[in-house]
Amino acid sequence: VFSRPWTFIRGAPAMKFLPPEGPPEVAFAGRSNVGKSSLINALLSRRGLARTSNTPGRTQELNFFVPEGYSGTDGDLPPMALIDMPGYGFAKAPKEQVDAWTKLVFDYLRGRVTLKRVFLLIDARHGIKKNDEEVMDLLDKAAVSYQVVLTKADKIKPPAVLRLLGETETRLKKRAAAYPQIVATSSEKGEGLDELRDAIALAVNG
Ligand code: GTP
Ligand code: MG
Repeated sequence: VFSRPWTFIRGAPAMKFLPPEGPPEVAFAGRSNVGKSSLINALLSRRGLARTSNTPGRTQELNFFVPEGYSGTDGDLPPMALIDMPGYGFAKAPKEQVDAWTKLVFDYLRGRVTLKRVFLLIDARHGIKKNDEEVMDLLDKAAVSYQVVLTKADKIKPPAVLRLLGETETRLKKRAAAYPQIVATSSEKGEGLDELRDAIALAVNG
């Protein structure tokens, strides 16, 4: 499915604008600027499909991407959808705005029946922060499966990536007996993308 072209179908600024529940969904969540939109572009080999920026707070809606060639009407649904989300935490925007995005993200994560897995992105330079833990708490409570993805692995040396993988594993072990494999990625260098594509396919089909 990743070898075919993908397209943007909808941006939802609030829950009432979500597309109807249909194909299995996989969402990318994480702090502002962690690299969610860049990772989606890298996975889909489409520079600029999801809009990215140096400034935190770029993505402001729940953006839905699907493989091209499906009408979306009954019988002709795409096999899956990827969702790019606004970041949580710091953003260069007024507080009410940031609060509204956070609420949208949390409401979607908690209540979407067709959401198969959340890929929770963590900046390899910073590790898991308090608001990442809050999101994990919310996902655990809502019984939504999530998988941790380290981003921007090209920005630190390989031994530092390994160390963070170990630390992250220790953190996750404290939360749950079993959890999906942590994936280290670089959207710039292409590292970890095939592994992540496999994980997505497994989450959708398995
Ligand atoms: P918001 O939508 O604001 O929450 O941000 P986001 O998580 O979508 O991040 P985005 O993809 O816009 O990337 C933020 C910045 O990080 C951009 O300047 C990207 O070029 C940079 N970036 C993203 N991924 C990587 C990566 O793998 N390596 C490096 N070196 N830079 C990256
Ligand atoms: Mg973004």
